[in-house]
Amino acid sequence: MAMVMDDVVGREARHVLQTYKRNPVTLVRGEGVRLYDADGREYYDLLSGIGVAALGHAHPGLARVVADQAQTLIHTSNLFYHPLQGQLAERLASLSGLPRAFICNSGTEAVEACLKFARRYWHTKRAPRQEFIALDESFHGRTFGSLSVTSDEHYRQPFEPLLPSVRFVRTNDPEALTAAVSTSTAAIIAESVIGEGGIKPLTPAFAAAIKAACARTGALFIADEIQSGLGRTGYPFYFQALGLEPHLVSVGKALGGGVPVGAALVSQDVADTLSFGDHGTTYGGNLLACRAALFVLGEIFDGGVGDNVKRVGAIFEQRLRALKAKHTIVKEVRGAGLMWGLELTRDAGAVVPAGLGHGVIVNRTAETVVRLLPPLVITEAEVDEALGRLDAALGAVGAGE
Ligand SMILES: Cc1ncc(COP(=O)(O)O)c(C=O)c1O
Repeated sequence: MAMVMDDVVGREARHVLQTYKRNPVTLVRGEGVRLYDADGREYYDLLSGIGVAALGHAHPGLARVVADQAQTLIHTSNLFYHPLQGQLAERLASLSGLPRAFICNSGTEAVEACLKFARRYWHTKRAPRQEFIALDESFHGRTFGSLSVTSDEHYRQPFEPLLPSVRFVRTNDPEALTAAVSTSTAAIIAESVIGEGGIKPLTPAFAAAIKAACARTGALFIADEIQSGLGRTGYPFYFQALGLEPHLVSVGKALGGGVPVGAALVSQDVADTLSFGDHGTTYGGNLLACRAALFVLGEIFDGGVGDNVKRVGAIFEQRLRALKAKHTIVKEVRGAGLMWGLELTRDAGAVVPAGLGHGVIVNRTAETVVRLLPPLVITEAEVDEALGRLDAALGAVGAGE
């Protein structure tokens, strides 16, 4: 099997643009929360392809509808009607309270659409409001608009100049937000739970400041729910837990369960300012993507997966708190539902290979945080096994200090 790995790595090294620093594992198969590499080694997946495989891997129901749709009709373009896009938009509307959806193909496109729609809103109102307020630990994607409201200098600096008129305020600092938002602000954008920035839910006080700033100035609020949305935190969207009422919401990742699909959800007020031709995409909302997304939403919200998040999420949290009590390198446990971060006293980089060595997949983010986004279908027994493996990995890393 070493041959397989050499082939894969060598070919990529020669021909794939080198923008990803991959772990030295070639995954070839999955089943539920388990992944298997080319040598047949099993891994418990506590990352779900960064929050995508909400139903786990090779879900038989999802596989069935994707195959059925592929044999019926995959794509028509947005020049024609098909029966599924309206159904998906209707379902997203009932979950979010925002009546309209623009369906796209990825998270960054969903954010991009939200930024454009916010600009269009003020353009239609003939009020020259251009400024976006974003958070200093934000991540919203890699295209120019999304990157412009992403704070990390490493991602931004080589591509400057980005969009002008973006101001960053300290995450969860209500006074800083209140001071920054004015009648020049087009929109505030924030992840309801900061993801890449280290799994930090917005605090109720900060959410209240966002609400007050919007009420005072008329600024729009864009909730980025790409990582935190669709049942991951135990709510359809975490903005609901915070009592926020966004005008725009970006959705992605879990929506297609691995089939690429995203969406910008839009209030009627904002929708009223958009016209035919203002935005578009060739692939967005094709039959295959919509069929997959409808299935995923059905499983999460009608099929008991969302309830599983609440029940197993509470157990997951207890087990993580036990890990914190046991390992001095774990400083803090943050998150909700099945979206968790372990803040370490040191760089979390070593936990990833140690985890792979013990047969568990986790991720490091914001340098010192171990990020955990397991499939939403994970069972209590699987949590015990997977976190047992993480326990061993943390032990090995702590002992190596
Ligand atoms: C909160 C948030 N917004 C936007 C994005 C970008 O999504 P994508 O990678 O699908 O473009 C991500 C991806 O990690 C994300 O976590």
